[in-house]
Amino acid sequence: MEPIKEVTVVIVGAGPAGLATSACLNYARVSNIVLERENVCASLWKNRAYDRLKLHLGKEFCNLPHMPFPSDWPRFIPRKDFVNYLDNYTSSFNIEPYYMRTVLSASYDPTYEKWHIVARNDSSKGQGCETYCAKFLVVATGENSEGVIPNVPGLNGFSGEWMHSNAYTNGQMFAGKDVLVVGCGNSGMEIAYDLWNYGANTSIVIRSPVHVLTKDIVYLGMKLLKYLPTFIVDEIVVLFSKLKFRNMAKNYGIERPKQGPFSFKEATGRTPTIDVGAMDKIKEGKITVLPAMTKIEDDIVKFEDGKTARFDAIIFACGYRSTVWNWLKGGEDLFNPKGMPRGRFPNHWKGKNGLYGVGFAGRGLAGISRDAMNIANDIVSSFTSKY
Ligand SMILES: Cc1cc2nc3c(=O)[nH]c(=O)nc-3n(C[C@H](O)[C@H](O)[C@H](O)COP(=O)(O)OP(=O)(O)OC[C@H]3O[C@@H](n4cnc5c(N)ncnc54)[C@H](O)[C@@H]3O)c2cc1C
Ligand SMILES: *[C@@H]1O[C@H](CO)[C@@H](O)[C@H](O)[C@H]1NC(C)=O
Ligand SMILES: *[C@@H]1O[C@H](CO)[C@@H](O)[C@H](O)[C@H]1NC(C)=O
Repeated sequence: MEPIKEVTVVIVGAGPAGLATSACLNYARVSNIVLERENVCASLWKNRAYDRLKLHLGKEFCNLPHMPFPSDWPRFIPRKDFVNYLDNYTSSFNIEPYYMRTVLSASYDPTYEKWHIVARNDSSKGQGCETYCAKFLVVATGENSEGVIPNVPGLNGFSGEWMHSNAYTNGQMFAGKDVLVVGCGNSGMEIAYDLWNYGANTSIVIRSPVHVLTKDIVYLGMKLLKYLPTFIVDEIVVLFSKLKFRNMAKNYGIERPKQGPFSFKEATGRTPTIDVGAMDKIKEGKITVLPAMTKIEDDIVKFEDGKTARFDAIIFACGYRSTVWNWLKGGEDLFNPKGMPRGRFPNHWKGKNGLYGVGFAGRGLAGISRDAMNIANDIVSSFTSKY
């Protein structure tokens, strides 16, 4: 057993949220350690995202604190460039995450008023478990920590191949195969389009109403939200969506929710889907839209409408879940049973006893930057108010 490491702040996770928080703390000269289970920072962007991904939101909504994107970069930044930016960010702010550290538990010791964090060291030099002791604990493990696979009866007996969208890189291995994509969020729709491009016979399950927009419509909406109330922006955005896609139910078999896209997001947390080409293929009949699945037998999938079809592979693009409760003890004041914030935005990032959550606002990278700055300021002001 190694000696206990004392530090002011421990940050769990070296994704954009952990990096942004560490940068803001380094900027303010507050000592901190970032613990990361993988051997790289931004592992979601490096290892768990598909090749053709670009940032869905305009670059002015996606930079981390204190480092804007170069002005000559495109509005929608490709994944590779964003990864370079994050590596650059990490070195520019002298962030040196402790890699291959999976945090197994963190609990608050009221006697010493400190958090005890236990991490397993899986590096080659590793010696089992390490203990850290910190005044402040920042949870930066993200909303996308683990892929969700729905409970479809018979999935375990499926004779084809299946995976979560976070394991999908591109459609090369699916050329000529019958592939089913489950889920019509950004990942599902873009992966369906990618599969079609690689020559897979592609189908997509769309279970519930969804707003489908384009990157440019969302960009316009986000710009307008600075000047106009949400319900007006919603009307404008839906108008553009109707001009672009016409009657989605008739043309594509997809219902639009009654509520506008930005208020729907506020109310349900579900973001509008950004189309990058799949809608045209659906309209041309090249990608098939199917209802919810009810069960699987060998390689046959049965659907809600009673129809069946055979598939070689299924890609589940059914979203993600937080894994905070795998390791955090206490903190029920900050996180609900799903490991997401209890408080509603903007009161979602601070708990008791020096506990914080960064990147759980459901507002992407812009929300992450805002949380990171709030948390760093809060930690700094807790020192200045004391002395
Ligand atoms: C496919 C995809 C596309 C997206 N596109 C956009 C976009 O265009 N714009 C936008 O604003 N947002 C986008 N998002 C949202 C995205 O979640 C954020 O952009 C961002 O990556 C979240 O950062 P994070 O640091 O909170 O979480 P993550 O990037 O998931 O980082 C969390 C880190 O914590 C580590 N970790 C987890 N558990 C432990 C543990 N117990 N011990 C140690 N380490 C641990 C993980 O390994 C990971 O590195 C996208 C998300 C996905 C999945
Ligand atoms: C990386 O940082 C340097 C300065 O340190 C800057 O000149 C360069 O443009 C940055 N590159 C990226 C990809 O952000
Ligand atoms: C493509 O898949 C659909 C849905 O499974 C199926 O009905 C159709 O026959 C397939 N088309 C080809 C050309 O194999």
